Parts: sequence; structure tokens; C-alpha cells
Amino acid sequence: MTGESVVLSGMRSTGKLHLGNYFGAVRNWVELQERYDCYYFVADWHALTTDYADPSKIADNTLEVVADYVASGLDPERSVIFVQSLVPEHAELYLLLSMITPLGWLERVPTYKEQIRELENRDLATFGFLGYPVLQTADIIIYRADFVPVGEDQRSHLEISREITRRFNGFYGPIFPEPEALFTPTPKVPGLDGRKMSKSYANTIDLADEPEEIRRKCQGMFTDPLRQRRKDPGHPETCNLYQFHLLVSPPETQEQVARDCRLAQIGCVDDKRLIADRLIEFLTPIRERRAELMRDRSMLLDIVRDGSLRARQRARETMERVREGLSMGYHNGEAG
Ligand code: TRP
Repeated sequence: MTGESVVLSGMRSTGKLHLGNYFGAVRNWVELQERYDCYYFVADWHALTTDYADPSKIADNTLEVVADYVASGLDPERSVIFVQSLVPEHAELYLLLSMITPLGWLERVPTYKEQIRELENRDLATFGFLGYPVLQTADIIIYRADFVPVGEDQRSHLEISREITRRFNGFYGPIFPEPEALFTPTPKVPGLDGRKMSKSYANTIDLADEPEEIRRKCQGMFTDPLRQRRKDPGHPETCNLYQFHLLVSPPETQEQVARDCRLAQIGCVDDKRLIADRLIEFLTPIRERRAELMRDRSMLLDIVRDGSLRARQRARETMERVREGLSMGYHNGEAG
């Protein structure tokens, strides 16, 4: 696995993954494994930027995310699957990048002010939170990654990562490739209430959800607001529930449901049962694989340790070049 372009991406360990994470990111990452050297990680230090007052769940959440990754098809043999804090070189590079990153660039990142406003029950006026994109830049370039598959919400972070990389290379020589965002078209994944699926809205269907849980959630799903009585014709194109058919139902089912709904031959209650069946069928293999991994924690820890060791090798090579670049390579070549 040398000579190929390198792909890197990751998620914060803030809890179990849901369908939005799956269709918006992980499914895509699985495909990239065919063509690239892939590094996928769990950003536990990034979780700390917002959860620093109570870090008690971060470690468990980290393992849950790894289990979700592997159960979704990220293959620990083919890709390097690892945990950020197990590769402490990220922190060293983060420190060096912090020296050259102008404050103004960080203050201008749109998600910065937005998040401070949104997460109002937490004090995010910290150095660590302001530095979030600097750490993220270190995560990426320490693997000399060429491509970073991310969602639209990460656009501004990737932009600043490129700026920091250019500035670093300008001072110390062409050490890093400029990472490029890989925005792949992803389907819309609404939540149960029609807003975007997101943990903070408590409207998710999780990869780990048991069948009964999925049925319960589907029963409460938001449907076509214009269809008030059973005999009213429905509007699949604007119905929240129908979006789920587009994600997990075969084309015949999609067509039939759309037709029957428009003719009021299927009611919303029936359709909720139908979509629950489809979702359960879709998620069962993932849930079972995941449960297996969660039962055997030593297997999960082995995956994480092995991946983190492999990640560390590449990170160390990069750091040797970085220290040389800064003419501070005192201990290059030594282990440790
Ligand atoms: N900020 C990303 C998110 O919230 C997580 C992340 C941290 C990341 N470091 C990264 C994503 C490096 C891609 C590359 O989803």
C-alpha cells in the first residue's frame, strides 16, 4: 500500500453513529478503500474541546465509534483505523502549527462563532476550542493526506487547513501536500422529525438500534403534513418518511409506495410499518457485527492498537521531516 494517494477522515467520539453519519460519510469511506491508502480515525481529543468538563464518556464513545466503523465495512486489514490520542505525534505537530497560525484565521471560521452561540450551556471561550481547526489540520497533514472526504459542514475547516499547510511549507519547505476536500454527493438524511438527522436534535436512528427501537421510532416519525385523513392523497416527494424509502428500499418498493400513497391506497401508519421493516432489514447485519465487536472488547482493542501503531509509523516519519524542516531534528532517528 505505498505510492497510492492517501485519504484521511475521522469523526469526533461523541456517541454512537446514526444513519446520517452512515449515508453522509462512512458508506463513502468504505468505497474509497478500494482505490486509496485510507486512514480513518476517531477524534477523541476533538471531543474534549466541547466535553472537557465531563470526559467520562469519551473513551467508551471512542470504542463505540470504532465498532460502528468496522461494522459498516471499514476493513482494519485494508485501512488504518485508529484513535487520535494513541498517536501523540498529532499533538506535537499541532503545537508547531499553532506557532504559525494567525489568530484572525481562526476567529474567522464560521463554525467557531456559530458553535459558541449554539452550545450555550458550555463555556467554549477556550484556547482549545479556538484551536480546533489547527488540531484538525495536524490530523490530516501528519499522514501527508491528499484527500479528505468530508461533508459540506467541514468546508471552512478544510479551507483553513490548506491555508495553514501553505504557510508552513512556505516557511520550512515543501513538506506537506495541500490536502484537498473530497465532497461526494450524499443523499439527504432527514431525522424522525424532518429536520436534519443529528444527535443534538434527538431525532436519530442509530446503527445500533434494536428492531423494537426502530419500530417505536418509526411510529413516531413525521410524515406528510398535508395528508391529514387516511383518504387524503399523499405527497411522497415532500414526505419525510418517503426519504427513508429512497435510502433503504428497492426501486420497486419505492415506486409502489409512491403510487399507493398518491392514491391513498396506503396509509401513513401502514407505511411506517413498512419502512420499519426495511430499516430493520438494512441495519440488521451492521447491528449484529457491531454487537459481536462490542461483546469481545479485546478484539476491538486489538483493532485499535494495531491501527494506531501503523498510523504512528507514518506520523513518525512525517515528524522527522518536520523537525528537519525546522532545523530542530535533535532526536531524529531515535525510537520513542
Ligand atoms: N471536525 C470533524 C467533524 O466534526 C472531525 C475531524 C477531526 C476530522 N479531525 C479531522 C475530519 C480530520 C476530517 C479530517 O466531523
